[in-house]
Amino acid sequence: MVSIQSVLLALPALAATVAAHYKQVQGHADAKYSVVTGFFKQDEDSTNVTTFSHMDNLGLLDNLTWTDIKNQLKEYNDNAPLNTTYKLIYYARHAEGYHNAAETYFGEDLWNCYLTTLYGNGTTEWGPDAYLTEKGIQSAVNNSKLIKSLIAEDFPLPKSFYVSPFTRCADTLLLTWNDTVLAPGYATPVFKEGIREIIGIDTCDQRRDRAYLEARYGWEFEANFQNDDLLWQADKREDAGRLFWRARQVLDDVFNSDENDVISITAHSDIGAGFLRAVGHRVFPLSTGAIIPLFVKQEKSLNFYPAALNSNITIGEWETVPACPATLSISRIASDIAFSTMSVPEKYSVMTVTTVSTVTPSA
Ligand SMILES: *[C@@H]1O[C@H](CO)[C@@H](O)[C@H](O)[C@H]1NC(C)=O
Ligand SMILES: *[C@@H]1O[C@H](CO)[C@@H](O)[C@H](O)[C@H]1NC(C)=O
Ligand SMILES: *[C@@H]1O[C@H](CO)[C@@H](O)[C@H](O)[C@H]1NC(C)=O
Ligand SMILES: *[C@@H]1O[C@H](CO)[C@@H](O)[C@H](O)[C@H]1NC(C)=O
Ligand SMILES: *[C@@H]1O[C@H](CO)[C@@H](O)[C@H](O)[C@H]1NC(C)=O
Ligand SMILES: *[C@@H]1O[C@H](CO)[C@@H](O)[C@H](O)[C@H]1NC(C)=O
Ligand SMILES: *[C@@H]1O[C@H](CO)[C@@H](O)[C@H](O)[C@H]1NC(C)=O
Repeated sequence: MVSIQSVLLALPALAATVAAHYKQVQGHADAKYSVVTGFFKQDEDSTNVTTFSHMDNLGLLDNLTWTDIKNQLKEYNDNAPLNTTYKLIYYARHAEGYHNAAETYFGEDLWNCYLTTLYGNGTTEWGPDAYLTEKGIQSAVNNSKLIKSLIAEDFPLPKSFYVSPFTRCADTLLLTWNDTVLAPGYATPVFKEGIREIIGIDTCDQRRDRAYLEARYGWEFEANFQNDDLLWQADKREDAGRLFWRARQVLDDVFNSDENDVISITAHSDIGAGFLRAVGHRVFPLSTGAIIPLFVKQEKSLNFYPAALNSNITIGEWETVPACPATLSISRIASDIAFSTMSVPEKYSVMTVTTVSTVTPSA
């Protein structure tokens, strides 16, 4: 929809500096987001998060069709007041990466208090920018089959793709959508720093440079995307409040700059939790490779909303690495410390490009 309100109300593009991610917007937002329920199982409190599978028609309620979703989206937008816009957003978490597999293998405690700060253990590398595992690649291929099967059912395909600047996200996006909407002449994904994973401490979330991503995918970058990762720090990490406000800025940005009504976002777990909070969705942890549709409403105000209308979520202290629990086996830690003497990989020199690198850029 070519919305008049986007012309009237679009804020001038923020001078996108690195610091903009942390702009203190608490209490001074000009838009309110919510999820329109009644379309997808994941939105219903009665749906069990543990047993939910996106492979079951992406959670579409059994009494609805994808044609209904298409029609409803159009109807909602056609009848919306000038300050209101609806978008269907497919939020995807990347498929399993080497860091996910290692965390599963070693257990959360040892991972969080120690191993996540290392780049690998001598046999597996999980940082910087962990690649997809074979299992991860398979689940993204499965997603692609699912999407292809839904096309026959009038599934609303995304018209814009935003992707976190990590290979595990870009590879997941590529494997999922390559055969359908990424063919040359259709959509070209855009790398967006704002949807990268929680920043700091975890080496898997330290990104490669822009030049690497450009050469590997040939996609577009949002304005002012920096070459180097200027945000990641080894000793401190964002808190949930920062993630929430970062996700909100992404929403503002997408709603204010993109006219398309069906959008794909491929990103991560923690920023995903921030994103779900920012659209007012219930807490819904996504497994690796999961995709959920969100029917999102944006309501803009010419005045800033008071804080209480938006959220009471504030930015807290930066997180530091938690101490290892006393219950962790000392011998286990000691044997793991043996490989902490491994040197930090020479910048990208140890990285091998997996099969998808041969794909012809769609740009
Ligand atoms: C959700 O499903 C899991 C696995 O079957 C079960 O253990 C859990 O109790 C269920 N949760 C609720 C709230 O029903
Ligand atoms: C579909 O089923 C849900 C309950 O699962 C119900 O709330 C809703 O009204 C139904 N919608 C239609 C269009 O029948
Ligand atoms: C390194 O971690 C992987 C799991 O990601 C495990 O399979 C492998 O055995 C580990 N190697 C060492 C030396 O501990
Ligand atoms: C992919 O789908 C196949 C067939 O349904 C299934 O056996 C396999 O476990 C799936 N793989 C992953 C990684 O999800
Ligand atoms: C949006 O417009 C509707 C209809 O004109 C109005 O009722 C509502 O108060 C407006 N919302 C805001 C936040 O300005
Ligand atoms: C924020 O806190 C105030 C005071 O406790 C409360 O009235 C308001 O409903 C809260 N707003 C939200 C969005 O949770
Ligand atoms: C992507 O699609 C092209 C054809 O458009 C095909 O040649 C290529 O192998 C595909 N790549 C992947 C990773 O599926």
